[in-house]
Amino acid sequence: MPNLTTHFCNATFNNPLMNASGVHCMTIEEINQLAGSAAGSFVTKSATKAARIGNPEPRYINLSLGSINSMGLPNNGLSYYLEDAINRQKNAPDKAFILSVASYEGYHEYVENMKVIEESEYTGLVELNLSCPNVPGKPQMAYDFADTKRLLTDICAFYKKPFGVKLPPYFDLLHFDKMAEILNQFPIKFINSINSIGNGLYIDPKTDTVVIKPKAGFGGIGGEYVKPTALANVRAFYTRLRSDIEIIGTGGILSGQDAYEHLLCGATMLQIGTQLEKEGLTVFTRIQTELLKIMAEKGYQTIDEFRGKLKEIN
Ligand code: SIN
Repeated sequence: MPNLTTHFCNATFNNPLMNASGVHCMTIEEINQLAGSAAGSFVTKSATKAARIGNPEPRYINLSLGSINSMGLPNNGLSYYLEDAINRQKNAPDKAFILSVASYEGYHEYVENMKVIEESEYTGLVELNLSCPNVPGKPQMAYDFADTKRLLTDICAFYKKPFGVKLPPYFDLLHFDKMAEILNQFPIKFINSINSIGNGLYIDPKTDTVVIKPKAGFGGIGGEYVKPTALANVRAFYTRLRSDIEIIGTGGILSGQDAYEHLLCGATMLQIGTQLEKEGLTVFTRIQTELLKIMAEKGYQTIDEFRGKLKEIN
């Protein structure tokens, strides 16, 4: 019987499935539900320094092929998630999870937030979200290559705990080359690829209107729409990054087959956003069952036997 045991950043997980930040992880109550679910681990809502109510509603809509959102980083503030993370580490040191941190104000808030974490008792994994597309008037940090390099230089000068970065999707092979070349210069432990495809537009055919209020209807696209882009990003970074930088594959995971494809491209952990929002916590059990069935059919006992082994046509 195959098993889904996964090793990631020096921790061991029952399976590689997690929520994607933003879905079911805003409050401690939701985080507790995730921690008690069949997911292998979880990530918290990307925190800004101060609590935020986020963009006006409607700001998240499920679509038949995915979702569109412009949440605008609603969250309870870094100290809320950090205190909870410290308590969790004390109470269950073997249960690794990821604390996600973002910035609303821009460059300096990223640095300040990482300083707060460095000076805290928390020693676990941190995801630095460089890719939120929904802050009106603010660009996605990781589309600015020079600023990303400068930011990582500034942060790595003082930050000594394990962290990774959440990236937006890239669409050009030269951009994969360029971002991988930058990331390879820093002691990051992982990347998370991809965040939503930023600034898509969905129109309600009955009313000829956009479906979300912020930014004139422009929002991040997730779900089925984004799987080919997500797979391309996971694969492109798997083949370009240092072998010690692990990959969280996020985007378009609705089924065991989607999970299998992300692993084949080189992902180690897998995050589920839109489908978790649509289906609820039982998605984790269903996808594990489907993935185990695929592995059994193909004769694999462990994920390591096929991770990254995507075949090309010669
Ligand atoms: C949001 O809160 O707007 C979504 C966060 C993200 O896409 O990083």
